[in-house]
Amino acid sequence: MYGKCSSLPDAWSVFHDLVHKNAFSCNIMISTLCANGQSAQAIHLFLALASDSVVRPTHVSFVAAKRVLGLFSESLGLESGALEEAFEGERHAMRMNYYPPCPEPELTILDAHADPNGFTILQQDTRVKDGLQIVHCGAWVPIKPLPGAFVVNIGDQLQVLSNDAYKSVEHRAVVNSERTRVSIASFYGPAEDSHIALLAQMVADEAPACFKDSVYGNYLQLFYASKLDGKAAIETVRY
Ligand code: OGA
Ligand code: NI
Repeated sequence: MYGKCSSLPDAWSVFHDLVHKNAFSCNIMISTLCANGQSAQAIHLFLALASDSVVRPTHVSFVAAKRVLGLFSESLGLESGALEEAFEGERHAMRMNYYPPCPEPELTILDAHADPNGFTILQQDTRVKDGLQIVHCGAWVPIKPLPGAFVVNIGDQLQVLSNDAYKSVEHRAVVNSERTRVSIASFYGPAEDSHIALLAQMVADEAPACFKDSVYGNYLQLFYASKLDGKAAIETVRY
């Protein structure tokens, strides 16, 4: 089914079918660093990536996200439903990133940022070894894609809710001069009108509350105003 898309509208309708057939509703954004006219090629690649993978991206955002959330709760020593409650009215979004080869790769980059949401399940392109990089011990480290595996990036809201027990990961994406790279990011976060307050269970004498309450929609505005400036956004809600 995927190989038959010969034009952009065709590819779109296939993708929409896929989403609707599974009775999923999610926002899909396409992000490309390419010139107009290359989007059709980008969509072909996304569809190939989706059909190749063991788990479809649509499944990723809805099934895996819930499981991951339960595991996060448990690893914090909380009831398995604790975070799920905090993300009530959850919001899923999916972004498909397309990075064509660039003759001057050092000039083209998805700037350093931490995702503003709860967490992100990222499906990488196994053909390209150096794309996603994270800050680890003060240095940029490549996260090599493993076939059949996803990367889970912790976002700012998990850091807030866990009162700094989890740290959102600062990351960026680099391009190369030889190969196109694609990635599919499934974002899991609260609804925009959600009131985010760190979990009372995470506060103790040795761990005083370190984040102010916020409304997620306002936080997002702040995040976008900070124009992907590393971890600047979360500092605006720190006491
Ligand atoms: C993102 C992101 C990384 C990648 O979409 O927020 O960080 O590898 N993408 O494309
Ligand atoms: Ni990101």
